[in-house]
Amino acid sequence: HGTSKINANGHLEIGGCDVVNLKAKFGTPLYIVDEQLVRNRCKEYVEAFKASGLQFQVAYASKAFCVMAMCMVVEQEGMSLDVVSEGELFTALQARFPADRIHFHGNNKTPEEIEMAIDAGIGCFVVDNLIELHLLQAIALEKNARVKVLLRVTPGVEAHTHEYISTGQTDSKFGFDIGNGSAFVGVETASKQSNIELLGVHSHIGSQIFEVEGFQMAVQKVAEFAKGVKQQLGVEFKVVNLGGGFGIRYVNGDTPLQVSQYVKAITDAVKEHFAGISNQLPEIWVEPGRSIVGDAGTTLYTVGTQKNIPGVRKYVAVDGGMTDNPRPALYQSQYEAVLANRANDAEEEIVSIAGKCCESGDMLIWDVKLPEVESGDLLAVSCTGAYNYSMANNYNRIRRPGVVFVKDGESDLVVKRESFQNIVGNDLIPERIRKQA
Ligand code: LLP
Repeated sequence: HGTSKINANGHLEIGGCDVVNLKAKFGTPLYIVDEQLVRNRCKEYVEAFKASGLQFQVAYASKAFCVMAMCMVVEQEGMSLDVVSEGELFTALQARFPADRIHFHGNNKTPEEIEMAIDAGIGCFVVDNLIELHLLQAIALEKNARVKVLLRVTPGVEAHTHEYISTGQTDSKFGFDIGNGSAFVGVETASKQSNIELLGVHSHIGSQIFEVEGFQMAVQKVAEFAKGVKQQLGVEFKVVNLGGGFGIRYVNGDTPLQVSQYVKAITDAVKEHFAGISNQLPEIWVEPGRSIVGDAGTTLYTVGTQKNIPGVRKYVAVDGGMTDNPRPALYQSQYEAVLANRANDAEEEIVSIAGKCCESGDMLIWDVKLPEVESGDLLAVSCTGAYNYSMANNYNRIRRPGVVFVKDGESDLVVKRESFQNIVGNDLIPERIRKQA
């Protein structure tokens, strides 16, 4: 998919770059991002919304993969940006992302984060709860600022996805519940606050969703809420943000829709359910993360040791694992892989791919069919662009890999591999311990 292909040498090539050369240049493990595919996904969203005729913003959910070069690429594609912490906000500002297109999320923003975001002049706060609303009003008042706000509501829709990543249901740590009236109180409160400009509401029903029904139901619930709010409070929502969650294909059997199909389903539902509530249909915002960058990412590993248990299983270990991709251990996520330096060889054995961490759960893929694998071979695991680098960690003091963007035969590091200095850089030795040494 994307710009990936098998070249004449039988090597995997991405963005016109042979991965064997990428290993020689940058080492492994290495995250490789197909920049053109990222750009194309952004364009698909923007084009699909233009076709709807509605006013819109597409905010890339930077939690999926947030580095300065990525912020610049999505900015160039006309996207807005969703951040959820001061670290993501800082990254975006360092990349000179236009502040007025940044939306700040999170269920527990600190006063420092709120101040930083107001000072930067961000476009919108997505307020999660009443405590935050009062805090935001107080800080904005002190700074003599007027801040734009969406209220995050939980429409009570359960997306059919892994339970840890469904967030639209009532029993969730996020947002104002529509069902029990707290969302109504939120709107009533926000609309009276002097330094808050309530733009509308936000809902996010989960992640890695394949069906449109959940989104359609969410639109309907939010529209019913908007109607009640209009009638009882005279408040109109100018903006409705429907969050992210559009699924991608990781393995055979995953059946996501096209970006344009998701967008059409949502915008059609908006036209149907919001008709007549106000004179004008609301502006629609979405926040895709995974579907922008997920399948554009590939992780390249070098094969090391193997353990064959006759009649049971063959373990093939690579030079990374749950440190660069914690998703299989966390969510039992499945991935596909190819032997990237001999991609045309006949696939003749079924092996399981292990990481190098001291933990049995450090398995990347169970039972994948590959050519007979040898030490030194290159293994490429696909669809690792989202929630991989951004969730990478230093367990076992393993250094985080570098990230390279490839496009039209060019390859450029956008994140360096961590150094040993990075590993011990924050360590301190108290004087009383040093003395005993
Ligand atoms: N908006 C909000 C408010 C969100 O909470 C999320 C994801 C998104 C947008 C983007 O959703 P996406 O389009 O990427 O599905 N670490 C998990 C995924 C957690 C998603 C959290 N929120 C994973 O690796 O699958």
